[in-house]
Amino acid sequence: MILALLFACAGGDIDSAAAEAPLPGDVDYDRDPALNVDMQSEAGAMNSHNTGQACTHCHQAHSNGRGQFTAAGSAYNADGTPASSGAIQLWAGSADTGTLLVELPVDGLGNYYTTMDLGLPQTVIQPVVVDATGAEVSRMPWATESASCNQCHTPVKRVTFP
Ligand code: HEC
Ligand code: HEC
Repeated sequence: MILALLFACAGGDIDSAAAEAPLPGDVDYDRDPALNVDMQSEAGAMNSHNTGQACTHCHQAHSNGRGQFTAAGSAYNADGTPASSGAIQLWAGSADTGTLLVELPVDGLGNYYTTMDLGLPQTVIQPVVVDATGAEVSRMPWATESASCNQCHTPVKRVTFP
């Protein structure tokens, strides 16, 4: 009943409601500090969602996703279904001469993510895809200052296991 009244109010004056309460994604959105928790993907976990979408669109300082992701994305099998094993390694600088910062397991829904400080964008990282045995499958040919993988790896060019 109370909710219905609130909706009725908001519906009656959408412009002023929007002016008073910035929406998720607006620079002045009032993010709940309780959302700022450390998170990292785990093998087999099924608690993520939105496979293939740009996770950092919402998991960032001005929106409402739980955890501010410093790296996040999705990986697929060759047949286009979400992968459910393997991992993404993130190397500082270069996979050949740099240091391994973290290895992010692909979870049960094809997603990998972390909130750890990777030094981006001041330093760059090179992503490497490894299979369940730890063997390299592929690597991004160059280093990137953004680890919002799905921003670039859209359906045109997904991160894929063979
Ligand atoms: C449209 C916005 C949006 C997008 C895109 C999005 N998320 Fe979320 N995500 C949320 C919100 C909102 C929550 C819940 C926050 C809360 O706990 O109140 C959430 C929660 C989560 C959680 C925590 C679930 C739990 O058990 O607490 C994980 C993990 C997660 N998202 C991963 C991802 C990944 C990985 C991606 C990209 C593939 C992604 N999200 C894309 C908005 C989004
Ligand atoms: C700023 C855009 C951008 C971001 C962000 C990005 N990539 Fe890439 N990535 C590319 C481009 C462009 C290529 C080359 C595509 C091609 O060869 O056609 C590529 C190639 C790759 C490849 C090699 C693909 C293959 O088939 O050999 C992998 C693996 C990869 N990226 C993983 C990642 C991961 C993991 C992340 C996030 C940590 C990421 N990328 C973030 C743009 C990006």
